[in-house]
Amino acid sequence: MVNVIGLGYIGLPTALMLASHGVEVVGTDYNPEVVDRLRSGHTTFKEDGLEELFADAINNNIVFDVSYKETDTYIISVPTPYDRFSKKVDACYVVDAFKRVLKVAHQNAVVIIESTISPGTIDKAIRPVLEQSERKDINLAHAPERIIPGNMVYELVHNNRTIGADDREIGEYVKSLYESFCEGEIVVTDIRTAEMTKVVENTYRAVNIAFANELMKICHHDNLDVYEIIRICNMHPRVNILQPGPGVGGHCISVDPWFLVGDYPSLAKVIDESMKTNDAMPAFVLHRVYDIMKERGMKDLSRVGLYGLTYKENVDDMRESPTLQLLESQEKHLGYPLKVYDPLILEDKVENQFHDFDSFLNSVDFVVIMVAHDEIREKEQMLSNKIVLDTRNVLTINNVYHL
Ligand SMILES: NC(=O)c1ccc[n+]([C@@H]2O[C@H](COP(=O)([O-])OP(=O)(O)OC[C@H]3O[C@@H](n4cnc5c(N)ncnc54)[C@H](O)[C@@H]3O)[C@@H](O)[C@H]2O)c1
Repeated sequence: MVNVIGLGYIGLPTALMLASHGVEVVGTDYNPEVVDRLRSGHTTFKEDGLEELFADAINNNIVFDVSYKETDTYIISVPTPYDRFSKKVDACYVVDAFKRVLKVAHQNAVVIIESTISPGTIDKAIRPVLEQSERKDINLAHAPERIIPGNMVYELVHNNRTIGADDREIGEYVKSLYESFCEGEIVVTDIRTAEMTKVVENTYRAVNIAFANELMKICHHDNLDVYEIIRICNMHPRVNILQPGPGVGGHCISVDPWFLVGDYPSLAKVIDESMKTNDAMPAFVLHRVYDIMKERGMKDLSRVGLYGLTYKENVDDMRESPTLQLLESQEKHLGYPLKVYDPLILEDKVENQFHDFDSFLNSVDFVVIMVAHDEIREKEQMLSNKIVLDTRNVLTINNVYHL
């Protein structure tokens, strides 16, 4: 039996995937609301294919609980935020979960940490806990997750994976567990290498996004069309520039690269600048809004609305989203809270939030597209009499402003 600890965006689909492939699973989350909801037969977030996977798993081998179970295999998938001051990983959730596991784990159990952690975290934060306990028999492994919200169920099956372990035998055991559902290639390596690869992958993405954002600012300064320039450059066989945007959110690309800055401040210079570049994008969008308002003789900020609250299109995850960052920076400057609408955020999360597209549109003259949900692509004609700033470059209607 596998006890999956932490049933969020990563833990839940992983637990369901194992269960629907014949592995007996107990999913544990210390939040009783999460457990109650899952026990009542409902998923806790929206994701393509998750409902079907859930139905399949509960017909098979899964139960949900707030308590940890006595068993020989654990997967820990709890949050790993970063400390905003030091930029280092905050491993307190992982350490807490690990300590609780140690109280119940079978002799020689394998504890797999799936949470993203900075290189050396297992040595610095987890091994000392093990050494100070009576549980020197426990085996450690790291199996970082690569899936992307919006395509999680597909990617769980098809992505390649990395497993880090102290010895080959444990690595191969963990590999065989993931092979129950994963059709991608699974590489077994040591723990520090596995820790580093995950953080490096997200850092690579962050740096490349920052390059596109910087390019956009240069082009904007000289009135050049950045999208056309990127399109032409990408016709070069060895160039693949990403698209600029209003900033970076979510729990990976906007967080993990900071771990390297925190741990290697004198070495991670490009990474540091890249993260600052991306973090400055919501404020840049706000400046564009003010400039466009001036150009159009518009004075009333209460007639400006942001379309999209989530950190990417077609998901309901709003953690660290550029829209939230923008609203926060506006609040700091005591600005009027802009109107906001997102078709996927059904509960009230911010001030001035609308839940109906028509009333949102009726209440604004200027719409800023922050997220390219399918809805806005389908309904773009409804924006034809509005001032529009399309920060994602997804609309095809005329007279739209870009970054
Ligand atoms: N969300 C993503 O897209 C993504 C992708 C790849 C990797 N990751 C990494 O996966 C890890 C988990 O992220 P997430 O997005 O699933 O987080 P999440 O916040 O969605 O879920 C974490 C869950 O863990 C529970 N929890 C916290 N501490 C616990 C404890 N001690 N015992 C039991 N339950 C506990 C919380 O109640 C919560 O339900 C993080 O390290 C993250 O960086 C996330």
